[in-house]
Amino acid sequence: MRYLYSVIIALVLMSASPLAAAKGDVQSGEQKSQVCHACHGSDGNGTDPSYPKLAGQHQDYLAKALRDYRSGDRNNAVMAAFAQALSDQDIEDLAAFYAAKPGLIDLKVK
Ligand code: HEC
Repeated sequence: MRYLYSVIIALVLMSASPLAAAKGDVQSGEQKSQVCHACHGSDGNGTDPSYPKLAGQHQDYLAKALRDYRSGDRNNAVMAAFAQALSDQDIEDLAAFYAAKPGLIDLKVK
């Protein structure tokens, strides 16, 4: 029985970890975000109004924005340059990091 439990746990871990990686990792997103701090702030709540706040934004929105800058579907010279350097995994990690930060207010619950 004990062996069976170990096998089940191993299978669950094996199936869960690639999923977690694909969804983005907050900690590695934080490390990768160093280059973004100058404009978006260290936690996505930059103070300069020329740069959008990223903190608390929906994760899938952030990931799509970065993919679109990278592909050119969304056109901005500054962000295109930064997005070119990002892999799919970088994008997921950065999106997870900024989405996890307190920031935007959900107007529905106000
Ligand atoms: C030199 C300043 C600068 C740096 C550094 C920078 N950004 Fe940006 N970012 C901008 C500007 C300006 C915009 C708005 C562009 C536009 O109008 O589409 C923007 C927009 C964005 C958006 C879209 C936000 C929205 O609400 O649609 C995301 C996501 C984003 N940046 C992520 C990042 C990430 C992640 C990094 C680091 C890899 C980064 N940025 C680095 C200036 C910067």
